[in-house]
Amino acid sequence: MDPKIKIGIVGVGGHGRTIRNAIRKSGRFEVVSCYDPNEAALKEAAAEFGCEAAVSDEAVFTHSEITAVAIVSPNHLHRRQAEFAAVQGKHIFLEKPIAGTVEDGEAIVKAARKAGVILEVGHHFRKFPSFRFAKEIIESGKLGQIIAVEGNFSAPSGLNEKVPAWKTQKTSCPVVPLMQLGIHGLDTLYYLLGPIVEGFSYQRHARMKGDTLDSSVSLLKFQDNVFGTFSSHYVVQQAFYIHILGTEYNLFVDFKKAVLIRVSDGRDERLQYTFTKPDDEPYLQEIQEFADCISKNHEPEVPGEMGLKNLIVLEALIQSGEQGKSIYIPRLYPQYFSKQEI
Ligand SMILES: NC(=O)c1ccc[n+]([C@@H]2O[C@H](COP(=O)([O-])OP(=O)(O)OC[C@H]3O[C@@H](n4cnc5c(N)ncnc54)[C@H](O)[C@@H]3O)[C@@H](O)[C@H]2O)c1
Repeated sequence: MDPKIKIGIVGVGGHGRTIRNAIRKSGRFEVVSCYDPNEAALKEAAAEFGCEAAVSDEAVFTHSEITAVAIVSPNHLHRRQAEFAAVQGKHIFLEKPIAGTVEDGEAIVKAARKAGVILEVGHHFRKFPSFRFAKEIIESGKLGQIIAVEGNFSAPSGLNEKVPAWKTQKTSCPVVPLMQLGIHGLDTLYYLLGPIVEGFSYQRHARMKGDTLDSSVSLLKFQDNVFGTFSSHYVVQQAFYIHILGTEYNLFVDFKKAVLIRVSDGRDERLQYTFTKPDDEPYLQEIQEFADCISKNHEPEVPGEMGLKNLIVLEALIQSGEQGKSIYIPRLYPQYFSKQEI
């Protein structure tokens, strides 16, 4: 067994609790220090790990014993914190989206590469066994030619009165469902079907406090002319699924199940596969992967560059919503597309 990796956690409230849980369960880390401006959350985490409650994020990043950090703070803080951590030579687990803007995401990737540190972005959805299964089915050719896909990544989070202020403001979170939930779907779609090259998006403010847009429906075009529709709302009941439409079978996938569907010649064929692993398992996997990447010096499944590709699609959809026209993404960001991907 490798020695435990000494880690600091920055942002221990909110989703930080889930990451704390995964770090503890993994048994691969010793938490040496943590920081959060919320005193109650900081006290709770420091007591949980018997670690230092740091006076600032920089005190964690400059801690001489620490080799890795988990950053689970609001999106718009990611750039300053991740750049700082990279300069200090710390390996970084960074929550999604990699940053609030593409410019910030690019700076983070550059800083991590320059420092030669691991940078893993927290896109854990593709790790759900049901989506792993979907990938296998697609690669087996069972669906025939894939013609189209429908996705929905929505939740009622914006209806909760306690939604954090930064998620309600356009300046920190312009289209909250896409930034907070939809980006998981975009990552999973990329994993399953490859790069998205064009997008058109309707977005509006429906219900939430603040001025962020809380409802979106987008049209996507993938590299192989597969068409997609993608909904992401922050003020409706939970819906997380991807429905892939092929010439031989359709495949409906959510957290817990995958269903292969074919209705032809009067036969209604439905093959259902259920997946019973607990919902927090993908978080545990991504944290274990972070430890493996550090100890064996290999790249994570979702490095900074992949996090950035997801953010580029998201930013293109936001621009589409603002401009009322479709956006051909390689024209905006040619440097992120190879000739085969266009
Ligand atoms: N992968 C997932 O499933 C998932 C789920 C939820 C959130 N997230 C991501 O996690 C990050 C945090 O989101 P959240 O929902 O927990 O938000 P939140 O507002 O609920 O919690 C953020 C925490 O960060 C703390 N914080 C604020 N300023 C800080 C600073 N300067 N340094 C350190 N901590 C600071 C807050 O006090 C709070 O405890 C975001 O990037 C979000 O996108 C990921």
